[in-house]
This record gives sequence, C-alpha cells and structure tokens, in this order.
Amino acid sequence: IITPVIMCGGSGTRLWPLSRKSFPKQFARLTGDQSLFQACAARMTGDAFDAPLVLTNSDFRFIITEQLMDAGIAPGPVLIEPTGKNTAPAVLAAALYLHSKNPDAIMLVAPSDHVVPDIETFHEAVNEGLRVVQEQGHLVTFGITPDRPETGYGYLELSAQPDGSGVAIPLSRFVEKPDAATATQMLAEGNYLWNAGIFLFSVKTIIAAFEAYAPELMPAVAASVDKAEVDLGFLRLDPEAWEDVDDISIDYAVMEKTPDLSVVPYNGAWSDLGSWEAVMREDTPDGDGVVTAGPVTSIDCVDTLLRSEDKDLELVGIGLENTLVVAMRDAVLVADMDRAQDVKKAVSALKAKQ
Ligand code: GDD
Ligand code: MG
Repeated sequence: IITPVIMCGGSGTRLWPLSRKSFPKQFARLTGDQSLFQACAARMTGDAFDAPLVLTNSDFRFIITEQLMDAGIAPGPVLIEPTGKNTAPAVLAAALYLHSKNPDAIMLVAPSDHVVPDIETFHEAVNEGLRVVQEQGHLVTFGITPDRPETGYGYLELSAQPDGSGVAIPLSRFVEKPDAATATQMLAEGNYLWNAGIFLFSVKTIIAAFEAYAPELMPAVAASVDKAEVDLGFLRLDPEAWEDVDDISIDYAVMEKTPDLSVVPYNGAWSDLGSWEAVMREDTPDGDGVVTAGPVTSIDCVDTLLRSEDKDLELVGIGLENTLVVAMRDAVLVADMDRAQDVKKAVSALKAKQ
C-alpha cells in the first residue's frame, strides 16, 4: 500500500491574480470542475493507496480538509510547516513521520499543482515504479518526453533508450534546472526526459539518502517532527527547530546526488500549470489561438488568453495579439504572452507597495 504525500506549500505567484498567497493556484479551478489539489488527491485513491498525507502551511489547512471532504476523500495526516523551506525538508519531515508509524511505508510524493488527466496511465506508471522500489530499492522518478528546452524543469539522463513499453530505466544523471544552452543541448542529444516532479520511494530509502547527501537537514527536521504538536487535528511541526532548517529543494538536496535513481517513462499527458502560458497551452484554443474563460468576447484577437474570473465581469478584447488578460474584481493583469514568466514580478512589486 502506498501513502500519497501531497506537496501543497507553494504559492504559485506566476498565476497572479488568480493565484494569491491566501488562495494559491492549486485550490483554484483552473481547468475542469475540480481544483488541481482535488484532482491530485483523487488520482491517488483506490485499493493501492492509503489516505493522503498533506504537507502545507498554516494558511491552507482548512482549505485542504474542506476540499478533500468536498471531493469525497477521507483526509489523512496534515503536516503544517511553520514556514516554507522548499521541498527537501517537507519530504524529509513526511518520511520521518511515516517511518514512526510504519517503517516499511512507501510514499508517492506528488505536487498538488499539476495536471495529470490520464488516471489509468498514471496508475500503470506508479505500479511499474512500485516494482522498482521493491526489487531494486531505488528512488523512482517519472519522466516526461521533452518538447522544448524548458529551463524550469529537472532533466533525467537515461542510461538506455526507452522502448516505449514504459519499463523503468536506471538514470545516469539528474540535472536540476539547467541553463538555456544546456537545456537546448540535452534536447538535441535526445536521451533525456523531464522530471515530472513526482517521486516514489520507501521511507527507509529516502531517509538513508538524506542521511548520505543532506545530513545537515536531519537534526533540525527530526527535532521538529519529534516535537510536533497536534493542533485541531493538524500536526504542527515545531517552529523553533524548523528555524534552523535550510531552504532547499529535494532535487538539489538528494536527486542530483544519489546514484540509486530510476525513471519510469510517463507517456500520458502531464502539465505543470506553472504560468499563464502553460494554462494557455493546456486549454484547447479556437482557430485563432484564442483561449477564453468566463463572460468574454474576442473580436479579431490572435494567440491570446482572455479570462474573466467573475460571472458578472464582462471582458472584451479587440485586435489583441500574443496577449494575456486575466480580470478579477480586485485585480486585472494585462501582459505580453512572452513575459508570462515575469508575472511573479507583479507579486513582488505589489508586496513592496504594501
Ligand atoms: N509543502 C510544501 N512546502 N510544498 C512545497 C514547498 C514547501 O516549502 N515548496 C514547494 N512546494 C510544492 C509546490 O507547491 C509544488 O507543488 C511542488 O512542491 C514542487 O515545487 P515547485 O516550486 O513547483 O518546483 P518546480 O516546479 O520549480 O520544480 C520541480 O518540479 C518540476 C516539474 O514541475 C522539480 O522537481 C523539477 O525537477 C521538476 O521538473
Ligand atoms: Mg512547479
């Protein structure tokens, strides 16, 4: 049985104004009628899965239980990080907590903000990963065939060519967020997959990997788990111990360093809806490449995203090209599509004004 571990601490600033500090993108209905978080939890239900453990911060704890209940999913433990220290400490805390309940636990770490619509394919990939975890004791990643030199992802260098069967392949190397030149070269070489950001491993293996490659994290994270307090059914990691925890992602802390990595090539659809450009790519545009949501009228627009997030807020675009418009009651974003990654700058700029 696998314990889903849902990463739900990011604030998704590149999707402002829909994604806010108090209500980030994973809880919003970006596409479809479930939030990304609900869809994430729902695809890890069934006989193979335990109730999900959710890692989050204090602000989101009630949204999490509410959205799980709404989706008919019984919540598992909710671990509250006193502050965001990125994914490595969060995953280690979850591993130590699960280990204290069951030393043989296996965890499937999943970002809450991805679109993975093809549940059956996802379950097949997880099954294949489980085989590798059990037979080889490896840390398992899931690999996406790259189609552009994206610098926002991790790259997985394969030790052998995938044959299309979806059988796991040992990795030669894990490269987190390469620069543009390196990414272009990797794409050309062809023996790389993107890291989907989903990981499967036993708690024993990941704890041993942290001990080997990021031992500096262990004392403070372990102390904050040991001293965690139960608060209204939530498990609040000890804030004092947590202060001494380094801010680092699991990709840099462990994945780039360990040789014991395998990848399950994932052939289903996958998208990290990290930016409006990605949302745009995910939705099917009409003939002119216009994607609309809400009460929107497009007149002679091309390659443009027009979203009104309020049913009473009429939005009209005329003659726009390669443009991003997201309108809400209290905030409107208008941007050049090529600057979609810079939306996070809007959030910093607004914060500075406060
Ligand atoms: N609980 C918690 N606490 N969750 C966090 C924290 C934290 O401090 N920081 C980030 N997360 C969550 C985010 O909400 C997201 O769901 C997931 O962890 C991954 O973090 P991101 O910040 O989105 O990582 P990334 O997109 O830059 O890179 C990762 O994902 C890529 C694929 O989307 C890496 O694993 C890359 O290698 C990978 O290609
Ligand atoms: Mg991400």
